Amino acid sequence: MNINPVAVKAGPTKPKIAVVGSLIMDLVVEVERAPEEGETVIGRGFGRYPGGKGANQAVAAARLGAEAHMIGRVGDDLFGHDQLESLGRAGVHTSTIIMDPAHPSGVAAIILDAAGRNRIAIVPGANHQVSAADVEAAKGVIGAADFLLVQFELPLSITMKAMALAAEVGTPVILNPAPAQPAGKEFFAKAALVTPNEVEAEQLTGIPVKDAAGAEKAARYMLEMGAKAAVITLGERGCFIMSPPGSPFGEQPAELIPAYKVKAVDTVAAGDAFNGALAVELARGASLKEAARFANATAAISVTRRGAQPAMPTREEVLAFMEENK
Ligand code: ATP
Ligand code: RIB
Repeated sequence: MNINPVAVKAGPTKPKIAVVGSLIMDLVVEVERAPEEGETVIGRGFGRYPGGKGANQAVAAARLGAEAHMIGRVGDDLFGHDQLESLGRAGVHTSTIIMDPAHPSGVAAIILDAAGRNRIAIVPGANHQVSAADVEAAKGVIGAADFLLVQFELPLSITMKAMALAAEVGTPVILNPAPAQPAGKEFFAKAALVTPNEVEAEQLTGIPVKDAAGAEKAARYMLEMGAKAAVITLGERGCFIMSPPGSPFGEQPAELIPAYKVKAVDTVAAGDAFNGALAVELARGASLKEAARFANATAAISVTRRGAQPAMPTREEVLAFMEENK
């Protein structure tokens, strides 16, 4: 990779973000505490929210002022139509989303406890029908973007196809390897920036990420595997950032950027808010540290709100929040 996203593609103009990823309808049951195996608990509430890591990140980027394009598939059903409407309302460009006539939209069953913690089971449906041809058809959109964002909710071969296409057209890739999959070295090698959470970092590297020393070791491993920079998100502790000399993001020694203190009611899609924000700020020309602070603030606001896409704040809200919490 010989591109420099910060110096070459980014600028003060409206950032352009492309996302190849999942669209999923979240069916959320709120409980005091999650049931044990074989146990039934009485829920406190139910919500249905458009989600999916890819779509959430596209919505986060659009709400923060980017021109965001979503590439993926939904079913030709109620959930699929609702997804397109939610993305459209947020200002995400949806012409590269295919409505699959033969497969249902993806769904997620989510149990959300009183502390805002979640357990999620996904049925991918149409998301697993995204084809190499779908990605190829979006070559122009990917080529025009400041960053391509990908996750691990589509088949790995499709994510790799998107990353290879981005390399061909000179668009740097932010790889959010979530949920963790047994991915090979080639994924790191094609990533400008890799952004696992602590569990995913541990699963991908085999290095326990229990503290700052563990996070630094795991980040180093990912850089050795070819990523140009690494950010490990650490939930309510914030995030760990690192970018070696010569990185397109500039040198950033290993550093923990603390989270904002808020009362979390729903942490679903905190990582997506974070990744969307990180991409937008880097595309605006922010340093990795500035972008990580902004992403911490965006994600902190998102955990105080219910639902995945409805929780994403605007840029004005994030700037006001950062000012109030200096
Ligand atoms: P999810 O899977 O729920 O979308 P994740 O596991 O991918 O999230 P986390 O590391 O839990 O990602 O959180 C991402 C970012 O969100 C953190 O780096 C932090 O900035 C913010 N965040 C998460 N939880 C909290 C919290 N309780 N209070 C403040 N900020 C939080
Ligand atoms: O990252 C949160 C998302 O993961 C949810 O919206 C759910 O759809 C799952 O894909």
